[in-house]
Amino acid sequence: MSTIDWNNLKFSYFQTKCYVQYTYKDGKWSDCEYVEEPYLKMHVASTCLHYGQAAFEGLKAYRGEDGQVRVFRPEENAKRLQRSAERLCMEPVPTEVFLDAVDKVLQSNIDFLPPYGYGASMYMRPLLIGTGARMGVQPSDEYTFILLVVPVGSYYKGGLQSVPALVMEDYDRAAPMGTGNVKAAGNYATGMLPGIMANDQGYPINLYLDAKEHKYIDEFGTSNFVGIKGDSYITPNSAAVLPSITNMSLMTLAEEMGMTVEKRNVNFDEITDLDGIAACGTAVVVTPISHIDKAGKTYKPAKEGIHSRFQDLYTRMQEIQLGQCDDKYNWCHIVAT
Ligand SMILES: Cc1ncc(COP(=O)(O)O)c(C=O)c1O
Repeated sequence: MSTIDWNNLKFSYFQTKCYVQYTYKDGKWSDCEYVEEPYLKMHVASTCLHYGQAAFEGLKAYRGEDGQVRVFRPEENAKRLQRSAERLCMEPVPTEVFLDAVDKVLQSNIDFLPPYGYGASMYMRPLLIGTGARMGVQPSDEYTFILLVVPVGSYYKGGLQSVPALVMEDYDRAAPMGTGNVKAAGNYATGMLPGIMANDQGYPINLYLDAKEHKYIDEFGTSNFVGIKGDSYITPNSAAVLPSITNMSLMTLAEEMGMTVEKRNVNFDEITDLDGIAACGTAVVVTPISHIDKAGKTYKPAKEGIHSRFQDLYTRMQEIQLGQCDDKYNWCHIVAT
C-alpha cells in the first residue's frame, strides 16, 4: 500500500523504484537496463563532466479520470533531445528508444504515479550525457541516456495565480546564434546566478531580453513568453529561445478558440500595450505575470487581473492531459499498464 502523501508533493527529488538507462557504445544502443541505486558510475574523464556534453528534457505523465496513464507529446521531447544532441555533437537517441524508456520507466514505477484527483503528476527527466573518456575537447565515443521520474505536486492549489517577474539587465541567456534553442545543460548552469538574484529580490521568475539589442523579449528563465492582445496570441519568434512544447500546443488551442497566433519580434515596451502576459512551460502550463520590473520601473499589461484567455487555455490543456475530452490532435501517448 502506498504511503505517499499525494497532497503534499513538491517539485523536488523523490526516490522511486528505479530509473532506466541505455548506453551507446560501438555504434549501437544497448537494451534497457533498470537501475535501482540513485548513483552513476562513470569514467573520470567523461566529456559530460569536463566539457558539458549534456542535454536534458522535461515532460509529464498524468493518471486520467478514466484510469489511463497519459504522457503529453513525448515524441516532441524526443525530437527536441535529438536537436540538442546534434548541436552538442552527441549521439541522438532514436525516438523508438526514447518511447521505450517512457513506457518502461512508468510501468516499473507505477506505484509512484499520483492518482487522479490530486492535481499531481509524474515528472519525467530524460538525460543524455557523454560518458566516454577524452582529454582533448572532442566529442565522446560513448553516451548514456537515462530517464528518471519523480512524482510532483500541483503548482496551483486554488486556481491560477499571477507572479511578478524581473528583467536581469546585466545578464543574457543566449546569444543570437548560440545554444538557447536547445536544452543544453550548460544553459541552465549560467542561468542559476540571475535566477537566484531575481528570487532574492522577491521575483519567482526572470525575463531575458535579446542579447544583441536588449530591446526585444526572448523568454523567461525556464519558460516561454506569451502575450494576449484582443484576439491575438503573441509570442516571440527569436532564434535564441527554446521551442516550448507547451507553447506550441497552446498556439494550436488558441487558434482552435478563434484567436490569431502572431509569432514575431516583441518589443519590451509593448508590454503595457498587451492585455495580459504569461509564462508557459511543462512545469505549470501557464503562469500569468502581474507585472515586469526593469531598471526600477514597473511595466504592467493594460488589463488588471488574470486574462480569461489564460484560464481558458489552461483548462483546455488540463482536460486533454487528464483525458476529460477528445484528444483530437493525438497528443497523448497512452502507456499500457
Ligand atoms: C528555457 C526554457 N524555455 C521554455 C521551456 C518550456 O518548454 P516546454 O513547454 O517544452 O516545457 C523550458 C522548459 O523546458 C525551458 O527550460
